[in-house]
Amino acid sequence: MFISDSICSWAASAHLLFLIALLSGLISADILPQTITAYVSETVMLPCSIPVDEELPTVEWSKEGLSQNITILYRDGCETFGMKNSAFRYRTNLVLDKLKDGNISQIIYNLRLSDQGRYQCRTLRGRQWQVHAMLELKVVAVSEPKLTVVATAAGDGVTLECKAVCWFPEPEVTFQDVEGNEIKANNPTRVSNSTECLTVTRKANVQTPINRVICRVHEKDLNQTRKTEIYIPGILDYNHN
Ligand SMILES: *[C@@H]1O[C@H](CO)[C@@H](O)[C@H](O)[C@H]1NC(C)=O
Ligand SMILES: *[C@@H]1O[C@H](CO)[C@@H](O)[C@H](O)[C@H]1NC(C)=O
Ligand SMILES: *[C@@H]1O[C@H](CO)[C@@H](O)[C@H](O)[C@H]1NC(C)=O
Ligand SMILES: *[C@@H]1O[C@H](CO)[C@@H](O)[C@H](O)[C@H]1NC(C)=O
Repeated sequence: MFISDSICSWAASAHLLFLIALLSGLISADILPQTITAYVSETVMLPCSIPVDEELPTVEWSKEGLSQNITILYRDGCETFGMKNSAFRYRTNLVLDKLKDGNISQIIYNLRLSDQGRYQCRTLRGRQWQVHAMLELKVVAVSEPKLTVVATAAGDGVTLECKAVCWFPEPEVTFQDVEGNEIKANNPTRVSNSTECLTVTRKANVQTPINRVICRVHEKDLNQTRKTEIYIPGILDYNHN
């Protein structure tokens, strides 16, 4: 069958595996990919489960579009590292104490934007591969916007700058007054980060009597919104005088 490159093998009987393969049928049901959205640097679990059996089959998770597409391979009672894609080294695992319940979900730690894509969960019994789950992972990068006063013009307001640092996908940055009315702003500038995320900066000249301004950063595809508010005391004092 295969050559075990793991040290902790509990020699599975080839005959038994072959029998199970015959009994377990040949066809995987049609599997509709499920979408999971998670944040950069977080931990995510991609669910997959199989019927409980006496013996755990070989479990393989792979990611579409990679030449070496295995993200975790578990066989004969332990993880086999030889074919694992190096981008996932030390970053994937199975829920080891749940394997006996047929829970073969994959955990990915310290998510990267490049982890985005389609994953497949399958098992091998004897010579029989069976696909159990397909998952579409979306990874988003968000942060709280930074809203600051960058210039004051005598008598007629201030220039505010709102910075959305390291977002992905690219968000829209808008300024609003407390009633939610949009305040006119300059065209945004975007800088792409070495880590593939984007920093979007936008400026607005705010006239009196507005004294509280909200910067809203919104990414519509994955429906991510972060808001920051600034209170401009100088303008309030001006109004009161
Ligand atoms: C697998 O186990 C984990 C940890 O207990 C649990 O959170 C998850 O819901 C389980 N997934 C499935 C598919 O059973
Ligand atoms: C990974 O590669 C294997 C072998 O080429 C292929 O059968 C499998 O479908 C690939 N996985 C994904 C998720 O594309
Ligand atoms: C790149 O992203 C990091 C956070 O991941 C941030 O600290 C840095 O300021 C960003 N650089 C640019 C040019 O956006
Ligand atoms: C976007 O998220 C907000 C809450 O964060 C929710 O109220 C709203 O219904 C969502 N919109 C869409 C289109 O999913």
